[in-house]
Amino acid sequence: MMVDNSISLELTKSIEITNIRKKLDITRKEFSDALAFDKEQEKKLKFWETEKEDVPEEIFKRIVKFPTEPPLEGPCEEEARFTQIDLFAGIGGIRQGFQRHGGRTVFSSEWDKFAQKTYRINYGEMPEGDITRINPTDIAAHDILLAGFPCQPFSNAGLKKGFEDVRGTLFFNIASIIKEKRPKAFMLENVKNLRTHDGGNTFKVIMSILKELNYYVPEPQILNAYHFGSPQNRERIIIVGFNKDYLPDDYSEFEYPIGEIDDSIRVGTILQQDVQDKYTISDKLWTGHLGRKKNHKKKGNGFGFCLFDSESKYTSTISARYYKDGSEALIAQDNKNPRMLTPRECARLQGFPEDFIIPVSNTQAYKQFGNSVCINVIDAVADKMMRYLEKYEMLRQ
Ligand SMILES: C[S@@+](CC[C@H](N)C(=O)[O-])C[C@H]1O[C@@H](n2cnc3c(N)ncnc32)[C@H](O)[C@@H]1O
Repeated sequence: MMVDNSISLELTKSIEITNIRKKLDITRKEFSDALAFDKEQEKKLKFWETEKEDVPEEIFKRIVKFPTEPPLEGPCEEEARFTQIDLFAGIGGIRQGFQRHGGRTVFSSEWDKFAQKTYRINYGEMPEGDITRINPTDIAAHDILLAGFPCQPFSNAGLKKGFEDVRGTLFFNIASIIKEKRPKAFMLENVKNLRTHDGGNTFKVIMSILKELNYYVPEPQILNAYHFGSPQNRERIIIVGFNKDYLPDDYSEFEYPIGEIDDSIRVGTILQQDVQDKYTISDKLWTGHLGRKKNHKKKGNGFGFCLFDSESKYTSTISARYYKDGSEALIAQDNKNPRMLTPRECARLQGFPEDFIIPVSNTQAYKQFGNSVCINVIDAVADKMMRYLEKYEMLRQ
């Protein structure tokens, strides 16, 4: 009997593609996003999986090469140097910075379903949802608490009752976990404006409560990603604290990393080659940008789009709104309208490794990277914190 080998081969390929996707537990759309497929390939994935069309060899190779294990799982229990929890986890930028120093994540919380997806695929762990619904007693014991939390005003400006005054805010949830679990240290990250938010009250209240919890909280520092090897001008405030229960009375001052400017760094180092045309902004958008810039200039303010090229030293801060029109960082192109950065380029600006999987639409990906942190900065802070904790043997107690 004659066997039609070509059919059985295609059948195998189809099953193999479906198996990989099922193992990853993602939809076809998500798989297409993760593989950076264009619209046409995205449509065809269904046909390739259902044997309606042959999958081109080059695409099949790309699919089978796709990692089915989380690339950034972190150290196992035996290898870990310390434990950490990841609050307001987003896509785990802060987690990674500490993980690189031996941190094993024992709890994470993030309520956005798209961020959860990215998190699960990369770290092999599904974060818990709304932190306000989690009882601090249910959270595992840990050495270091990590949180890049949303900034909110405190309504009770007086701080009469201290800790109890901030009830109802997300900072209260962080403070409650610190109070209950007494980690050896914490690192909180926020926008630079936290200092001046609500006339300086928000910052004052946060500092006072952290100190009330018996933590040594050195003067928080504003650190810029550009000073830590990234071609992005991104300033963020970092607040660290160390549990005084473990520190001697004459503890020394903690020193934040300073970073330094590497003059050789250029935007070109993070740019991809052969970027798809869909990233070039439309004539309509470009005309709109140019028009707004002209108006702003007339009124004497500096708002509008920012244009960079491969020789620029850095881009402006990538924010969660980048997906809207790319105005904060457009890349100039020869004989064409400028283009937006690709999600992978945003990942690079934030110091994410190349094997970080992006399993969501571009809109979600831009939001996720814009909301995240520059890992280089967190890595440097984690390094300094480790040295401080080791100095007082805090991780061994
Ligand atoms: C500024 S982002 C932090 C990003 C994170 N540092 C990273 O590296 O990706 C704040 C995150 O807090 C999440 N969030 C806000 N309120 C929350 C809540 N009540 N429970 C859990 N997550 C929350 C948001 O969805 C957002 O992803």
